[in-house]
Amino acid sequence: MMRRWLITGCNGQLGFALGRQLASYSDAEILAAVDLPEVDVSDADSVTRLFDELHSPPEVVLNAAAYTHVDRCEREPELAQRANALAPGLLAEAAARCGAQFVHVSTDYVFPGDADRPYREDDAPGPRSVYGRTKLEGEERVRSVSDRFLVVRTSWVFGRGRNFLAAILDQAQQRRRGEAEGPLRVVDDQRGRPTYAEDLAQGLRALVAADADGLVHLAGGGSVATWWELARACLDAAGFEDLGIDKLRSADLETAAPRPSYSVLDCSRADALGVSLRDWRQAVAAYLASPEAPALEAAS
Ligand SMILES: NC(=O)c1ccc[n+]([C@@H]2O[C@H](COP(=O)([O-])OP(=O)(O)OC[C@H]3O[C@@H](n4cnc5c(N)ncnc54)[C@H](OP(=O)(O)O)[C@@H]3O)[C@@H](O)[C@H]2O)c1
Repeated sequence: MMRRWLITGCNGQLGFALGRQLASYSDAEILAAVDLPEVDVSDADSVTRLFDELHSPPEVVLNAAAYTHVDRCEREPELAQRANALAPGLLAEAAARCGAQFVHVSTDYVFPGDADRPYREDDAPGPRSVYGRTKLEGEERVRSVSDRFLVVRTSWVFGRGRNFLAAILDQAQQRRRGEAEGPLRVVDDQRGRPTYAEDLAQGLRALVAADADGLVHLAGGGSVATWWELARACLDAAGFEDLGIDKLRSADLETAAPRPSYSVLDCSRADALGVSLRDWRQAVAAYLASPEAPALEAAS
């Protein structure tokens, strides 16, 4: 069925992947795909203008915009609150006014991280960071606007632009060029599910096509990973098998925001809806083969 979409955060990892996929499928029309600085979705006038200027009403409004710099959120809580909490509420209201389905993306960081099994949708959240708290408030604001919403929590996203894998590859290349030396250092005591933005975009499209609603967890398949395991898999697949990575504990790192040590999402509700993402190790290989991965210089 053909649907008219509005996407926010279109220059981010997820928004970019989704926009590209929708543009290549005949079952979707993109009415608008917007991002900063043209459209600030935390500004009520800007959101009103965005919807007023559309040539026809959207049927699906997907919010992929967020302030995702987890440490910076601690230093800029007002900015985080506007982008992660206020904006989803404004967009949900605008979507409700034109009868569109509202799809919002949230995070595993709404959980405290002290569980001993994967988090289900009905488990109690308990965010430990400004990012997690503001994202949870965003979920609550969306839910309070209308029953017609889909909130999809995901985790550890990599795709086009700034992300963990791009940072690891950059550090590896610095060593290959002789600009840095010694092993990399990566934490090995936080567990989660790495998720490729392209796979997440496909999964979101499938959930929308299935008319899913409510709260759904959707993240990469395969075994649970630590950041160290993700970095190791990426470097091995990218030809840096010989480069060592020291295992750190979270306590060894001074980050502004605490991270949950265990934020594994239970994705069985999405599975039951027929939507499952591929094994994250295959997804890392697909990312490395994509034009979005950093260009790698050959070893000399
Ligand atoms: N990245 C992860 O590991 C991760 C994990 C779990 C959940 N999520 C969630 O998944 C969704 C997509 O994440 P992502 O990784 O694709 O994020 P991303 O790459 O940081 O993209 C977010 C986009 O939103 C834009 N944005 C920020 N504030 C805005 C505002 N006020 N108005 C309009 N646009 C604004 C950003 O612009 P600037 O770059 O200029 O700020 C950026 O282009 C988000 O809801 C995020 O919370 C992400």
